[in-house]
Amino acid sequence: MSLRATGLLAQLGAATPLVAAPMAGGPSRPELVIAASRAGGLGFLAGGYQSAAQLHSQISAVQSETSVFGVNLFVPNPVPVSGQDFARYRSALQRWITQYAGRAYDDAEAASIRERLAEVVLPGDARADDDGWNEKLALLEREPVPVVSLTFGLPAEQDVRRLQATGAKVMVTVTDASEAARAQAAGADGLIVQSGAAGGHHGSWNPVREPQRVSLRELLGNVRVRTELPLWAAGGLSTPEAVHAVLVQGAEAAAVGTVLLRSGESGAHEAHKQALAQASAERSTVVTTAFSGRPARALPNAFTGDLTAQAPLGFPALHHLTSPLRRAFAEVGDPEGINLWAGTGFTETREESAEVILRRLAGQ
Ligand SMILES: Cc1cc2nc3c(=O)[nH]c(=O)nc-3n(C[C@H](O)[C@H](O)[C@H](O)COP(=O)(O)O)c2cc1C
Repeated sequence: MSLRATGLLAQLGAATPLVAAPMAGGPSRPELVIAASRAGGLGFLAGGYQSAAQLHSQISAVQSETSVFGVNLFVPNPVPVSGQDFARYRSALQRWITQYAGRAYDDAEAASIRERLAEVVLPGDARADDDGWNEKLALLEREPVPVVSLTFGLPAEQDVRRLQATGAKVMVTVTDASEAARAQAAGADGLIVQSGAAGGHHGSWNPVREPQRVSLRELLGNVRVRTELPLWAAGGLSTPEAVHAVLVQGAEAAAVGTVLLRSGESGAHEAHKQALAQASAERSTVVTTAFSGRPARALPNAFTGDLTAQAPLGFPALHHLTSPLRRAFAEVGDPEGINLWAGTGFTETREESAEVILRRLAGQ
């Protein structure tokens, strides 16, 4: 059975109820967003971690091919970390690099890799920024897009109105019923209902709390009793059956991330794609704050195994702290020090075109 888009998603120009969810850090490049629209769905550019200028050029690249797409932004909602905890974690990371390099690269041929890892300089001060929120709002005023999705928090009502004044629909990511009620009160046009099964960061507005162990099904039910807004379901959806089930439950769309990570159009790092290809179904994903200081779901690796227990909360300070380390591991092609974001549906990833994957999920 082939699924058809309805409601807000149909109004935005999609033909099928499939959303290519935003994935910051590389995966959601313009090619992936364009492929989603070719498949009849709607894809999101991930504005997080990019400068407004970089996001602008991605918007232009997508606009030259399709008008069915959206942009995702991180709402500023920093999680503070004390100077002492930051310094302690920085020392732990430095010790870990040395220990790991000695253990994994102990032969003569690996000298250049050991040198590259030894060169990593971790920032000494906790950097707290707002990811260029105002610059990105100003960009979206100059270059309006059809839909903007927001994660990590609730923006001021005036910012929601500012985006809507550009003609954009505003979707807010929620992870429980009370966030849903507050997003509705702030004027959101729709909600992305994200369960803890999702890959990458949990969009919770209160990351101090562990992600709740509530199934997407239950979460959708809890949210539906609080609001009539359109709901786009996200978290662990990786098969046509799972997509069908959330639509039957009243979601307007299934938003998928992980299942697209190995697609040809995804800009995920090659080492991330390979780790997903090799991941065994017996080793389940883990939730960790070790990379970014905010809970996120990832494939387990040496980094999560050795550092999750010691990592404090602190976003975006820890994201910036671990960034040079992650870059070095990516450069040498070693997945053991990379944030291998993945949702619970990680066994369903395939090296195929995103269009084929999305059409299959839509029952075509
Ligand atoms: C690699 C990766 C990066 C992500 N980055 C973002 C992001 O920038 N903004 C956002 O709202 N959600 C982000 N997410 C969450 C997705 O938008 C979506 O909610 C999630 O992928 C759905 O669950 P699934 O991965 O099980 O399909 C990311 C997820 C992944 C896997």
